[in-house]
Amino acid sequence: MCTDHNWINNAVRKIEADYQRSADTHLIKLDLPSIEGIDIYLKDESTHPTGSLKHRLARSLFLYAICNGWVGPETTIIESSSGSTAVSEAYFARLLGLPFIAVMPKSTARKKIEQIEFYGGQAHLVEHTDQIYAESHRLAEALNGHYMDQFTYAERATDWRGNNNIANSIFDQMQLEDHPIPTWVVMSPGTGGTSATIGRFIRHQQHNTKLCVVDPENSVFHEFYRTGNKALTGENGSKIEGIGRPRVEPSFIPGVVDEMRTIADAASVATAHWLENVLGRKVGASTGTNLYGVLQLAGEMKQRGEKGSIVTLLCDSGERYLDTYYNPEWVQANIGDLLPYAVKLERFETTGLLD
Ligand SMILES: Cc1ncc(COP(=O)(O)O)c(C=O)c1O
Repeated sequence: MCTDHNWINNAVRKIEADYQRSADTHLIKLDLPSIEGIDIYLKDESTHPTGSLKHRLARSLFLYAICNGWVGPETTIIESSSGSTAVSEAYFARLLGLPFIAVMPKSTARKKIEQIEFYGGQAHLVEHTDQIYAESHRLAEALNGHYMDQFTYAERATDWRGNNNIANSIFDQMQLEDHPIPTWVVMSPGTGGTSATIGRFIRHQQHNTKLCVVDPENSVFHEFYRTGNKALTGENGSKIEGIGRPRVEPSFIPGVVDEMRTIADAASVATAHWLENVLGRKVGASTGTNLYGVLQLAGEMKQRGEKGSIVTLLCDSGERYLDTYYNPEWVQANIGDLLPYAVKLERFETTGLLD
């Protein structure tokens, strides 16, 4: 417990000053002539200083922990992560001069491990994804440190009513568009924190926008959404880094989700590759999951003769994954054949329909 007001005040000021120096992320409009009248937007979270949407979460988690008295000047910060959150938390730990240890599966992209080390953090690798939770608890106890636990606290550390959260920013940036209130917002869940913020914000602002949550293979979120069974566990870790979990995470809030879909891993990776031709740069695979869901919804809107807008997130850059999602041998061995989805995406370019 930390009751040192001087340290707390200074730590909060440092985080707020860092925020004051930051700019908001761009909302990119895609140019897709085959779905005229249906506008697609990507909120580009790759441009945060630490390269992903997790920069927002890390800031919120640190503020929450400090203001709760959980972190003081000598506290070692420990986090379980698939990498992106750990990179962002390492940045904030360094800002505050605190030691940082990330507990991650050994499959985590090498580039992310290098970034954690760049910010002075330490990577503690475990064999399987489902070991990260217990190992984080164990380390926190052994080192008298603080386990941040993004999977529990993501949904409550973020001020979902406003305060420039991601949903607030999206709706502000949409104001002058042809369809300023999106028909759909699409997001994939890791902690579930971002979808919780977006869904709650939509309801609080009394919008009719629907939230579609897209889940990769090897994740229990979709089945939990259908059955309500909180005890579900998965054998295999998700192959789409950052999203899909082997257990029902406490930060996933099903009540704010209007619809869920499972997206095949090959569809996610093929869509990430396809987007490079539209956008001119590489994105991570979770962005592919998001966009495949968006294209499905856009095709369905087109078939019904509806117009409107759909917003999703560009979660992180593909430069982090050059040795996995952008390495054909890795893709062949771990994801399989992308061709059937590449064909569907090509069809979408001319017809506006995936199937
Ligand atoms: C690359 C990437 N995409 C998407 C997500 C999902 O975000 P959330 O944890 O808010 O559900 C994460 C979370 O770690 C991520 O790292």
